[in-house]
Order: sequence, then structure tokens, then C-alpha cells
Amino acid sequence: MPFYHKLGKIPHKRHTIFKKPDGSLYYEELFGTIGFDGMSSNLYHEQRPTQVKEIGKRKDVAPKIAEANNIQSYRFRGFEVPPISDYLESRKTVLTNSDCSIILAAPKASTENYFYKNADADEMIFIHKGTGKLRTQFGNLNFKYGDYLIIPRGTIYKLNFKTEDNRFFIVESRRPIYTPKRYRNHFGQLLEHSPFCERDIRRPEELETHNEKGEFLIKIKKQDQLFDMLYATHPFDVVGYDGYNYPYAFSIHDFEPITGRIHQPPPVHQTFETDAFVVCSFCPRLYDYHPESIPAPYNHSNIDSDEVLYYVDGDFMSRNDIEAGHISLHPAGIPHGPHPGAAERSIGKTETEELAVMVDTFKPLKVTEEAMKIADGDYFKSWL
Ligand SMILES: [Fe+2]
Repeated sequence: MPFYHKLGKIPHKRHTIFKKPDGSLYYEELFGTIGFDGMSSNLYHEQRPTQVKEIGKRKDVAPKIAEANNIQSYRFRGFEVPPISDYLESRKTVLTNSDCSIILAAPKASTENYFYKNADADEMIFIHKGTGKLRTQFGNLNFKYGDYLIIPRGTIYKLNFKTEDNRFFIVESRRPIYTPKRYRNHFGQLLEHSPFCERDIRRPEELETHNEKGEFLIKIKKQDQLFDMLYATHPFDVVGYDGYNYPYAFSIHDFEPITGRIHQPPPVHQTFETDAFVVCSFCPRLYDYHPESIPAPYNHSNIDSDEVLYYVDGDFMSRNDIEAGHISLHPAGIPHGPHPGAAERSIGKTETEELAVMVDTFKPLKVTEEAMKIADGDYFKSWL
């Protein structure tokens, strides 16, 4: 996150002697990105964070592709993805390209016997259902319905759930995830026209420091392999850190919609950006107030991006027969638009309760075998 955060105890100067009460040293780790050019944090550990004991089995978790060259619009019924106890087992990749993967997950049980680290990608986890706690070496973040959790690659984490009823919409991004540049000034401060501000960004608190030796399993995802790495020290042994690279939370309910006299284009809903895709939040808002405005969107050709909409809650005015948990995929190269009657139906409406998350990818998405299990194969004819 592009603003400074500090938690726990740190020495006055970087890269200087920092002593424990017994006179021995704490161990510093620079957690950085894009070589030494990107955001970084400096962490101070009780133990050296490098103590690998064993490299165990590996598992290939590369998504299995059903349609690599897709031109068909799809609807996927996301809530038909089955709940599974284990968090990693529950993650089902439905759409993917070389920049990102879109994943649905319905985990029932908290992560108990292992820690997880995604070394391939930043993760954006949107909480559709569930309440709990994200536990990391940077401290903990409580989450609930409507939260986006942004977890930078390399973060070691566990998830604790309050109940078994959890539903996540996840984007794994091989490109760093940022907030939109146009909403930040030269110094990184969020500007007055930004639809959210620093007060809406929740940073980690409640640093857990476990100074323990033993056997600690971290499942590390790298190059679509899940490696079992056994460490000799507890991964959450940080006494303090500071910097710019850490997980954070932002609630979709804190996004302040930008409205206008006539229909506003999707970029006004933009929440996150990468150089390979954008994420937009469609939130309850007042409709366009020109006396002759048509609140429903116009037909549009996304010539150079695939459009994925994940429907969260409320009434989806432009679509017939869309429910919470559904995903629509409108691929690049062909126009799409409101369903028959939706434009007419929208005239005179003053507000919407719709809540949805949109991901527009600049490279085409491949449709996976997991997606085909929950696909509506006739959706592409639904405009006839
Ligand atoms: Fe669209």
C-alpha cells in the first residue's frame, strides 16, 4: 500500500544493531518488490527467517484449460462451487491468462496445520460471505462481508473463519496491485476526487510474535506448483516492521460512487489497477439525473479487454436472470449490452442497490474445466 506503516518495535536506523533483552541480535529482513525499486518493508525477526529443514512433496496446481481461445459469452453460477474444508483445496480457478487468475473458493475450515505463501502473485480476496481474521507476519486483519483483502506476494498467511459459510472471489495477479494512480498526488496522498481515502484503508494490527522452534509447514505456491517447505522456526516471529509493503483491507461499502447527469463509464467505479487488468466496484448509488437519461448501460464493444462481472448483491438492472454469486464473461472482440427490455425498464429509475465487482483483463482469458462445471452454455444467446 503506498503509504507508510509501522507496527511493533524497530531500531532507530535501518541496518544497525538491534538487540534483544538478552543482548543477542534481532534478524532483519527486507521484504521488497520490483528489485529494490518497488514498495518494501523492513521486518525484525526473533529467529533467522531462512531456516529450511526439508523440501517435501510438491503438487501441480496449474489450472486445467477447457477453452484456450474463447469468443463465447458465458454465465457461471459461482455458488455451485462446492464448499470444501481445506482453504487451498477449495480454491477453484475458473478463468486465467498469463497475468492473472480468477478463482472462486468456499472454504469451510480455518487453516490449522500449515501456513500459505503465494510466491507467484499478489492476491485480492473479495469476501462475499464469511467473517474472520487474516493472520500474517505483518499482523492481523479482521474481515467481513464486502471486504477486499490485498495480500502482496510473499506474505505468509493463515485464515481463521467464524463459521463454515464462506464464499470468496479471488484474483491472483502476477502484476503488482495498486490503487489507481490518477487518485493519488505526487506524494502518494489520495486526492479529494478519489472515491476512497486513507481512512478507508485498514492496515494490519495485532502483531503476533511467536518465538518458537520446531517444525512449521509453509505451503508455497511458485510457478503453479505447491511446494511443502518445512521450516525450523515459527513464521510469525516478527517483533516489528515498517515500510510500504504489507497486506491491507478495504470495504466495498466504503467506496463512494461517482454519479452524473448521464451514464458514467466503468472507470468511475475503478478501485484497483495493475498494468494487466483493472478492478471496479459497482455500488448502490443514485442514477443519472438528466430528465431523458437512460440509466442502463449502452451496448459496448470491449475491443481489447475481456470483461468479468461478479454479482454480489442487490438487483442487477441490466441483466435478466442473474443472481448473487454469478459471473458473466463478455470476451473482447464482440459487443454486449443490456438484456432485452432492460434499457426501457431502467428509464425513470432513480437509484440502484446493485453490488458487483468487475475485472477487465487486457489479455484474453482462458476458460477452465472448473468453470465448465458451473457454466450456462446458452448464455451467449440470451440477447435474442
Ligand atoms: Fe460491459
